[in-house]
Amino acid sequence: MANVQAIKALTVAAADLFEETGHAMASSISDTARAAAGIDPAIGTRRAAACDLVAGAVAAMPRHAKADAFGVALEAAIPHLAWFNSTNPDLPERYRSGHAFVELAGVNGHISVPDIRFGVFLIAPKVFYPPHSHAAEELFYIASGRAEWQQDSAPYEVRAPGTTVHNVPWRPHAMRTGAEPLLLLWGWRGDVDGRSYRIL
Ligand SMILES: [Fe+2]
Repeated sequence: MANVQAIKALTVAAADLFEETGHAMASSISDTARAAAGIDPAIGTRRAAACDLVAGAVAAMPRHAKADAFGVALEAAIPHLAWFNSTNPDLPERYRSGHAFVELAGVNGHISVPDIRFGVFLIAPKVFYPPHSHAAEELFYIASGRAEWQQDSAPYEVRAPGTTVHNVPWRPHAMRTGAEPLLLLWGWRGDVDGRSYRIL
């Protein structure tokens, strides 16, 4: 089935790109995601408004082999993916409608895996994602887009594509995008139960 092949190919390409960061957490999550088998047909497909931003974000990615492979796999997989966006009423409406994420491998993922969440996260330009925290350890890889990031109460700072942002459990963090969409690889491990998630 084309959808199984597309999702598996995207998961492997995303894991290969994530691992290239050299971060220990990325290696662990990538190994788990690549080794997992099977697509849960119950996940189905779902489109979100922010999906329209994928092509532009992919086109703006710094070019190298692993990034190119990820971009090709992502665009090919879009119609087969379940994209969600948070409807948490504590979040600004512009954020709720201006982001989308897909969980490729994880407890709620296309590929069912315990103990992690790994996927793709997209945020539209000019969106503020207010400070929040959760019990899971988190690693982002910035595939495309320059945004301002905050951890704890430090000043916001621009993080460039090709870099990572690591959040230990419960660390408050926030971000605000500028003129470009932000395309991220996103990983959680540890206590991945989303019920710990809090807007601060
Ligand atoms: Fe987070």
